[in-house]
Amino acid sequence: MHVFIKKDYQELSRAAAAMVAAAIRERPDLVAALPTGGTPVGMLRELVRLHQTEGLDFSKARILNIDEYVPLGPDHPQSYYRYLQEFLYQNVNINQTNTFVPDVRAADLQAACAAYDQRIAGLGGIDLMVLGIGGDGHIGFNEPAAELSADTHVADLSAETIRDNSRFFETVAEVPRQAATMGVGVILQARKILLLASGRSKGAVINRLLTQRTVTPHFPASLLLLHRDVTVMVDEAAAAAEI
Ligand code: F6R
Repeated sequence: MHVFIKKDYQELSRAAAAMVAAAIRERPDLVAALPTGGTPVGMLRELVRLHQTEGLDFSKARILNIDEYVPLGPDHPQSYYRYLQEFLYQNVNINQTNTFVPDVRAADLQAACAAYDQRIAGLGGIDLMVLGIGGDGHIGFNEPAAELSADTHVADLSAETIRDNSRFFETVAEVPRQAATMGVGVILQARKILLLASGRSKGAVINRLLTQRTVTPHFPASLLLLHRDVTVMVDEAAAAAEI
């Protein structure tokens, strides 16, 4: 695991965007998977800036959402489809047909998840997976559990995640209880992983990620110990463990 500690959120966002941009420049048809939520906003803004000021070219890039709330359709303001549209796709020269999200409104959700995995395979696998991390150690929406699904699947969100994500909704009751998410097998098959965390609220979970040497499904991020190319980028606030 390569660990980088950046001074603050702005530096973290810049460094993360620089890594994504370098990957796109090296391989213009990069297959990337991106998270949503609070953490990647600065990185996405910086990627838009790099497109606008330095001509970073997204025209061949393929980008997948790691997850999507069930059953929020593309028109819902809090859907993750909309999130990447608003923060990235609308502001760069990506080809919309090269953007992908699990079809959470399909009648057969299991089939839709399997189709997403087939899509990923059809793209030749994921070159770069950018991850956030939940306060409970989730990656994607693989929540702590006795068993974790390898494949894309519909996951129940934990009470902690529902509470954390309620900040994006008017009331806790509006937060979806489920999401379609890439499974841990899909995540670990990515050729390169970049995990981002910012702020004091992530201190405890980052401390655990960086110190724990055992792998357990009760702390899904620990599975990243099994991957050979993981970069963890955090700001100083997230690096200062809360005891
Ligand atoms: C969201 C996702 C989640 C988030 C995590 C951290 O697409 O996959 O794993 O990355 O919940 O969210 P924030 O960044 O809002 O703290």
